[in-house]
Amino acid sequence: MPYVRKEGVLCADDTPLSDIAAQVGTPCYVYSWTDVATRYQELERALSLVNARIRYAVKANSNLAILKRMVDLGAGFDIVSGGELERVIRAGADPAEVVFSGVGKTQQEISFALKSGIGCMNIESVAETRRIAEIAERLALRAPVAIRVNPDISVDTHPYIATGMRENKFGMPENDAFELAVEIDRHMPSLQFVGLACHIGSQLTDLRPYADSLDAVLELRSRLIEVGVECAVVDIGGGFGIRYHDEEPFSFDELGELVSSRSLQDVALEVEPGRSLIGSAGVLLTRVEYLKPATVSGYRDFCIVDAAMNDFIRPALYEAFHDIEKVESSDGESRDWNIVGPICETGDYLATARPLSLQEGDLLAVRDAGAYGFVMSSNYNSRLRPAEVIADGGSWTVARRRESMSDLLDLEQD
Ligand code: LLP
Repeated sequence: MPYVRKEGVLCADDTPLSDIAAQVGTPCYVYSWTDVATRYQELERALSLVNARIRYAVKANSNLAILKRMVDLGAGFDIVSGGELERVIRAGADPAEVVFSGVGKTQQEISFALKSGIGCMNIESVAETRRIAEIAERLALRAPVAIRVNPDISVDTHPYIATGMRENKFGMPENDAFELAVEIDRHMPSLQFVGLACHIGSQLTDLRPYADSLDAVLELRSRLIEVGVECAVVDIGGGFGIRYHDEEPFSFDELGELVSSRSLQDVALEVEPGRSLIGSAGVLLTRVEYLKPATVSGYRDFCIVDAAMNDFIRPALYEAFHDIEKVESSDGESRDWNIVGPICETGDYLATARPLSLQEGDLLAVRDAGAYGFVMSSNYNSRLRPAEVIADGGSWTVARRRESMSDLLDLEQD
């Protein structure tokens, strides 16, 4: 277990989180590399029978130090922008091991990706296909493409992060994908059709929709092979859920059993996990600024901390639950605190009604904040974005320093 208590103090690997906070200040993200590496190796092992390629979804956490360590583990990458491509190249990734997803790739992004030797463009529309074909022709190269299918499968997750239903903007219906694949194969020489992709949503805890989408994609693949279109790659996306509260997500082993139960002999299987590799590895450290207990019945007990929705938006945006613990345990009377930030919005909260015994100055750890934490932060209220730290065994390093006021103001002109 990467996060354990030693003498009452919560530690990341072997480092007390209180030491990190004392030196780096708060708010601050800490990632346990031991946890990430363990999860990665578990997934690799679970998928070893089908020899799947892991394409880490950079959007979950794109810190350069994390990406560099992912390269060292042997990961490929799933990216969604030119910026993410710049990052993975800086981290030492081979662009041939990178897939480019997303519904709105710009001319510049496509051209940059093709010139870099991207492994695959995951196409989401006919219009995008034409654009990629034109750019590839102009560059006199052949662009490897896969088509993202929208299998119209409903999933049990927050509606903002369900992506494989007919009302969502992503992918194409199976029949459209079939026709487009045939068209690419027969009539678009600047494109090389390599396979099919699918990503039906994020934070999915039930395996059933994966079985359904994999079967839908494999059936489409058979139809393509029947008409002579080769289809080597099947990318089942990411979205594997983690336990934030009382969820019971499927395990990597269960995912491995599912894919192993399908006949995938000639298939190059790919997965695009983000959250399931790095979510549980991260905490957000924040300090209690003020306690504002209710004095009149019906009013609430508020604990105001130094992290806010600009630092960590998941609770405000998705009503997401994140466990919050005191870094240094102590006894005392507990109350159901609403843990809120200093931003002038009622939506600025980290948690509601948490039974904790708190005092001013206490250090808190917001758990499972490694994915979609720092990457979704902003400078709202002219707040400086927090530092990021990687703990690894007994040592730790600052992977991103806290922003300074000049980082913000230097971009502006008065
Ligand atoms: N592949 C594609 C094409 C995706 O769109 C995503 C996530 C992933 C892979 C990785 O999904 P994961 O394994 O991390 O669930 N901000 C939200 C999550 C947005 C996910 C968007 N797409 C949150 O905080 O829950």
